[in-house]
Amino acid sequence: MLNKFVIVTFFYCTINLYAVGHIIRQDPIDDLFISPVKFDLKHTQLGDNITYYSYHIHVYFLQQNVNQTNEANLLRNRFLDEFNVDACNDECDTWCPKICHWEFNQAPIGPHPIGSWGIYLPLEQFIEAVSFISIYHGNLTVLLHPNSGRPKIDHLLNAFWIKTLLPLDGDQLTDTAPIPPHQI
Ligand SMILES: *[C@@H]1O[C@H](CO)[C@@H](O)[C@H](O)[C@H]1NC(C)=O
Ligand SMILES: *[C@@H]1O[C@H](CO)[C@@H](O)[C@H](O)[C@H]1NC(C)=O
Ligand SMILES: *[C@@H]1O[C@H](CO)[C@@H](O)[C@H](O)[C@H]1NC(C)=O
Repeated sequence: MLNKFVIVTFFYCTINLYAVGHIIRQDPIDDLFISPVKFDLKHTQLGDNITYYSYHIHVYFLQQNVNQTNEANLLRNRFLDEFNVDACNDECDTWCPKICHWEFNQAPIGPHPIGSWGIYLPLEQFIEAVSFISIYHGNLTVLLHPNSGRPKIDHLLNAFWIKTLLPLDGDQLTDTAPIPPHQI
């Protein structure tokens, strides 16, 4: 009887700790290929058939303002440290096996109208990474967009902004993007 109670209490507490986020899951790289996260949106009535393969985080700064550039650089270093982030390879866009980072851009690039740095974010790290950005973004504006293989819709329509909204150059975005071999 006592044993049963101990076991039930143990499982209850463990599940609770995961549920409220006190235990942060640290997947080894290989496990990310067989992520348990499934995020497959299908609403046939609306004619939608959307799969989110990942997210990107883009953090913006006024590249001519030294203080803001420093703040962006500090936040970036802190993020890369916290999540142990390596550089992205060329194919990292819609789907990659692992969280990774792009360059620190001190000028507008692609659709991004001011200085920016970016992160490729696997779905399974969404909550930790977005919570981190929510707490530490400071004075910086942040774009968080899903990747469904349709860059224009993903950036311009289905994205989230933190702090303020910047005008992205939609002409720099393609309607569709190749979806590499993946497993979600
Ligand atoms: C949804 O999209 C996928 C991939 O583009 C396709 O294979 C599938 O047939 C589509 N399903 C529906 C119900 O349209
Ligand atoms: C930038 O930071 C310096 C101190 O490092 C401060 O003196 C200056 O007022 C700041 N500039 C702005 C625009 O906040
Ligand atoms: C945000 O900007 C203000 C005013 O320039 C500055 O005092 C503050 O330190 C900045 N916040 C961070 C997190 O750098």
